Amino acid sequence: MYKQALIYGVLGHPVAHSLSPAMHNAAFTALKIHAEYRRFDIAPEDLPQFCVEARRKYAGFSVTAPHKETIMQLLDEIDAVAGEIGAVNTVVNRKGKLIGYNTDWIGVQKAMEEADVRFTKQKVLVLGAGGAAKAVVYACLKVGAEVLIFNRTKEKALELAEKWHALIGTLDDAKTVGVIINTTSTKESLLLPAAFRKGQIVMDCVYSPPLTEFLRNAQKGGAKIMNGLPMLLHQGAAQCMLWTGQEAPVKVMRAALDRFFA
Ligand code: ATR
Repeated sequence: MYKQALIYGVLGHPVAHSLSPAMHNAAFTALKIHAEYRRFDIAPEDLPQFCVEARRKYAGFSVTAPHKETIMQLLDEIDAVAGEIGAVNTVVNRKGKLIGYNTDWIGVQKAMEEADVRFTKQKVLVLGAGGAAKAVVYACLKVGAEVLIFNRTKEKALELAEKWHALIGTLDDAKTVGVIINTTSTKESLLLPAAFRKGQIVMDCVYSPPLTEFLRNAQKGGAKIMNGLPMLLHQGAAQCMLWTGQEAPVKVMRAALDRFFA
């Protein structure tokens, strides 16, 4: 008998640039799961209605900017770690109940691990204080890094720093730290080439374009650069496990992403 495909997707605004559909659809095919992953471009004012419909229509979804924090109050349950972080990037529909999780922090940790970056006891400057920054700060602190937070809106940086006993950073701190992670969504780099130093590790959570102005400046300044693609892959692999209960086909997912940059 014909069985309807399970529907998943990425919820954000905008989401046209997202490579999550390519990555997750490749994973479902490899796992032989009858499912389809779409894009849900939902403006903030339509988020409550989307969640109502999602309970009966969708098996789960990824959450991206600008909804990672605001969606929390619209869900039925929040996993303990996501609650602690204060942001949700993954939702699982369990029998009509929407449960929120966070896999971004796993994505950052695995991306660093894979690149052989040890950020334990390192000073890490995090740029931004939104949903992505919250997961990045959590990931850094969990491995024992010393975190400095810089954000355009200082109150948000203060709030996040206070919560985790982290420090407030300035853009001048960029030169002194071992690792810099950009979580902001601005296309213009917050730092010029002269602000970086040789040998430091600089990561951008953005993966499209693969070489942002921020990373180009970091490279000119002598830093080792990483874009957001490995983070996307590993946060996605953790999502895939939550949705399917199976080991994620990481190789297949990586190949699906690499095709865009070949
Ligand atoms: P995400 O879920 O991807 O973290 P977000 O929660 O909307 O997205 O957070 C966006 C981050 O980018 C914020 O830290 C924001 O700074 P503000 O808190 O001051 O808004 C930062 N950001 C966006 N545009 C920026 C710009 N032009 N200059 C500096 N920071 C910017």
